[in-house]
Amino acid sequence: MPRTPLFDPTDPAFLENPYPVYARLRREDPWHRSPFGFVVASRFRDIDTVLRDRRFGKSFKGPKANGHDPDLGNMAIFRSIGQWMLESNPPDHTRRRACFTKFFTAKRVEAMRPRIQTIVCELLDGLAPRGEMDVIADFAQLLPFRVITDMIGVPRQDQPELFKIARFIGRLSDPVPLDRAELAQIDADFRRVADYFHGLIGIRRRQPGDDLVSHIAATALEQQLSIDEMVGNLVLLFVAGHETSTNLIGNALIALARNPDQWNLLRSEPGLMKRAVIECLRYDNSIQIASRTAQADVMLGDIQIAEGQDVLLLLGSANRDPAMYAEPDRLDVTRSGDQMLSFGGGIHFCLGAQLSRIEVECALDALLHRLPDFRLDDPLQPVWRPSVVFRGPARLPATWTL
Ligand code: HEM
Repeated sequence: MPRTPLFDPTDPAFLENPYPVYARLRREDPWHRSPFGFVVASRFRDIDTVLRDRRFGKSFKGPKANGHDPDLGNMAIFRSIGQWMLESNPPDHTRRRACFTKFFTAKRVEAMRPRIQTIVCELLDGLAPRGEMDVIADFAQLLPFRVITDMIGVPRQDQPELFKIARFIGRLSDPVPLDRAELAQIDADFRRVADYFHGLIGIRRRQPGDDLVSHIAATALEQQLSIDEMVGNLVLLFVAGHETSTNLIGNALIALARNPDQWNLLRSEPGLMKRAVIECLRYDNSIQIASRTAQADVMLGDIQIAEGQDVLLLLGSANRDPAMYAEPDRLDVTRSGDQMLSFGGGIHFCLGAQLSRIEVECALDALLHRLPDFRLDDPLQPVWRPSVVFRGPARLPATWTL
């Protein structure tokens, strides 16, 4: 009988619940050489080491990475992704990221909390009288989308048009094969967003405001950032800034609904919220995998990784490693310590880590206290999005009494 592969990202059961597979990998084959061609690392210490080791870097492969025809590399979207900080190595990475970091200082992001609370209130004012919603479509997608588009400086009247085409990157990274027509549609969506940001940069150069586009437009010259790099990295922020937080709100609500004692504890002790969000990030993160490529032959202990070898880093597995956490499969909103790899590590550490934590804190806080008997219809069997990288429910129906 053929042996079931230890790691099969195309298996629907894996999408539903990857954690038993992670546990087996950590136990039986922590540096798994997959028949799919990559090495899969699953232990916290190993993943943390690779993330910080400069001998591993990014190697954006364009359409080939998703199994698409290499000649599609000329599509605008693939040319642009190659310029994202997320996909670049120093010195380009350093130069591209430097332009944006000033806008994400701890002080500046914390100062956004009241604005985020206002957006949450506005959304719930509209939803509360209904007594039911799809948490994802009606709430969790809109909140981070508004936050990031406000931060970038997209005027409110332009936001609905952008929202319609906002999810293109998520579709691109799904393992479900896309045909040429779908790819062409995604490329067209990307070009509309990129053209929009291009125009906005021009407007903010003439009429600067206190927003990210104005800041980038003003500092790009001294940072030697080209217009394509500016636009590409704005698109990255636009995409990274909402998809991930949307999914985390969904995952956190599912985890808490499956552990009602933790939900009740959080309701009775609101001071636990910060810890609870960190625990939800650890317990079921919305980004499950990061990847790196060895830039040279590397020995890590007795493990040899050849130059050019792609390594998948199972962040979701690192976060459940029993070598790091007592009872790692238990959700515990009182857990102390904030060590987890949900936002990656090293030079690519997530630029929006603090922002997304505040978004999720505000979202959970409002749901707990404004809709006291809020409950998910089916927390045990949600429909998961068909992606091994972006983990989150596709829909999440919920009800409450008026
Ligand atoms: C729960 C929410 C989020 C999670 C779990 C998450 C996770 C991650 C991870 C794991 C990485 C590193 C990827 C790698 O090393 O290859 C990353 C990078 C990044 N994230 Fe996030 N993220 C979240 C929210 C956000 C938000 C809200 C923003 C923007 C406002 C953002 C912007 C970025 C950017 C720009 C990078 C690339 C940084 C670089 O390459 O230097 N993320 N994120």
